[in-house]
Amino acid sequence: MVTSARLEHMAQYGEPQHTIVHISDTHFLAGEQPLYGKVDTDATVRQAMRQLEASGIRPEALVFTGDIADLGEDDAYRRIRGIVEPAAERMGARVLWVMGNHDDRARVRVELLDEQPLTEPVVTSIRLGGLRLIALDTSVPGYHHGELSAEQLEWLRGELATPVPEGTIVALHHPPIPTTVPLMPILELQRQHELADVIRGTDVRGILGGHLHYSTHSLFAGVPVSVAAATCYTMDVAAVRGRLSGLGGGQSFAIVQVYDDRIVHSTVPIGDFPVVSGFDNAFVDRLAALSPEDRLEAFSRHAQP
Ligand SMILES: [Fe+2]
Ligand SMILES: [Fe+2]
Repeated sequence: MVTSARLEHMAQYGEPQHTIVHISDTHFLAGEQPLYGKVDTDATVRQAMRQLEASGIRPEALVFTGDIADLGEDDAYRRIRGIVEPAAERMGARVLWVMGNHDDRARVRVELLDEQPLTEPVVTSIRLGGLRLIALDTSVPGYHHGELSAEQLEWLRGELATPVPEGTIVALHHPPIPTTVPLMPILELQRQHELADVIRGTDVRGILGGHLHYSTHSLFAGVPVSVAAATCYTMDVAAVRGRLSGLGGGQSFAIVQVYDDRIVHSTVPIGDFPVVSGFDNAFVDRLAALSPEDRLEAFSRHAQP
């Protein structure tokens, strides 16, 4: 096993202060029914958990940015909880479930949060040491577009009124960024300027979103936004113009590494792919034992043809 300390002295940056896993749009149906009759939604989430556990990465939290279920059914939530929670427990990670437009507030509360079946927005604010993680609820019961009520924005304003030592990451389903995928702008978060007014000038340093089913990154009110692709199917951003195409491939999740002055988002493909190149632990150990100069010679110098 490669130890972080061994790698750290080979890099200009140290280890991140926090590691979070960002997963989105799992879209489970009841009774293990395949999504659109074609997608095994459970398989990619199981595979993602297997990959994470095998990696040795020990995230502090797994954040699911909404559309956990496709039709908000009890069994969908029970099943994903049965896959995710044991894996999270073994990794020592908390799980943050964020509401999406396909989710049902009351059933999320009962099946995922062990709460009463209230239909108020599902919002929460947790701490990972000095870092604050806030989950907003952009869902509108009965609709697929996103909204944040005046009450929820006031709650957020109140939370952010007190800064925390390492700043805040906000997780929500409908990301406040443009998309050129056909029809998706109809379903975007409405009145985004209201959220911008609340976030601007606070300690929010990252926004995690979902909903779009493709990995994309932007800025909102000066804050970096990162959207994780879906685990169920991938929206084709390069589809033939005017066409909306969900692809049965390219599923991924993201690793979010929080440093003191920046956050790094890295996309991880989900799948059991063949390893076609790489170096083993013994090789890394040999390089770690070298001086920085010898390391450059051993690893950076072009091989002679
Ligand atoms: Fe979705
Ligand atoms: Fe969505």
